[in-house]
Amino acid sequence: MISVIIILLIATNIITIYLLKRKKIKKYFAKSFIKSVNLEKVNKIFESEKISENLYGPKKDVIVKSFCIPSGQDIVGITSDYEAWILSSLSKISKNIFEFGTCSGKTTTLMALNSPNDSKIITLTLDSNQAKNLSSDSQDNKVSIRNIINESNYNKFIFSGKEYEEKISVMFMDSKKLNADEYLNKFDLIFIDGGHTYSIIENDSIKAFKMIKAGGIILWHDYVPGKTSDKDVVKYLNKISKYKKIFHIENTSLCYFNNI
Ligand SMILES: C[S@@+](CC[C@H](N)C(=O)[O-])C[C@H]1O[C@@H](n2cnc3c(N)ncnc32)[C@H](O)[C@@H]1O
Repeated sequence: MISVIIILLIATNIITIYLLKRKKIKKYFAKSFIKSVNLEKVNKIFESEKISENLYGPKKDVIVKSFCIPSGQDIVGITSDYEAWILSSLSKISKNIFEFGTCSGKTTTLMALNSPNDSKIITLTLDSNQAKNLSSDSQDNKVSIRNIINESNYNKFIFSGKEYEEKISVMFMDSKKLNADEYLNKFDLIFIDGGHTYSIIENDSIKAFKMIKAGGIILWHDYVPGKTSDKDVVKYLNKISKYKKIFHIENTSLCYFNNI
């Protein structure tokens, strides 16, 4: 009898710990199939400059214009400050930029603030009606479908009305309807941060591979093994990393492909 009670107590404890810590447990056991690399591998601009025997500092291309969203503001779908700095730095050396996923326009604003004066940025987004009527596949993650609806609630953006807005073209369009053939080999930088369902991430990535210039870079946001809402991003990137040279950037949720 006592042994039955002990087994029941242990089982109850295990179940309680699992329910309370399931996100951490899932992340711990989740496998990343993609090699993580140091940021310096992504581009030479991230290599530090020697100032003295015991001091290194940033090169000029990684000194960027930036801003933070105050913690009280409820803006959805956002990059970390470190990821935002990486994106801003790469924008400094990019004339033609394409973004899948505008949302509040935080990353678009950073691209516009930091890219050369004659740069052009195209960013794709959905309005709330388009998001509600979006087609999906049976394999698409339901949490990601719900997130698309929550994140498609802006028709004005952080860059609206600012002088650098003239660099930006916003297209309210389902990326599945985008004709990539109009933009073949055009972009220096493509940021994939649109819908996180399998069918959208696959669509956006296939189009990005066509649209990227020789020497250009594709960045994907939200490669977080074990996180439910990023499940399809991880699944797709793990799959294509078997034949495409895709790497994960250490201490970020970013993956990248250099078109060399
Ligand atoms: C995660 S948010 C983008 C966040 C933004 N890059 C940032 O960091 O500030 C996702 C965006 O993708 C858009 N989106 C989702 N699915 C899309 C689709 N199929 N076509 C175009 N845009 C899509 C949503 O409307 C939303 O604007």
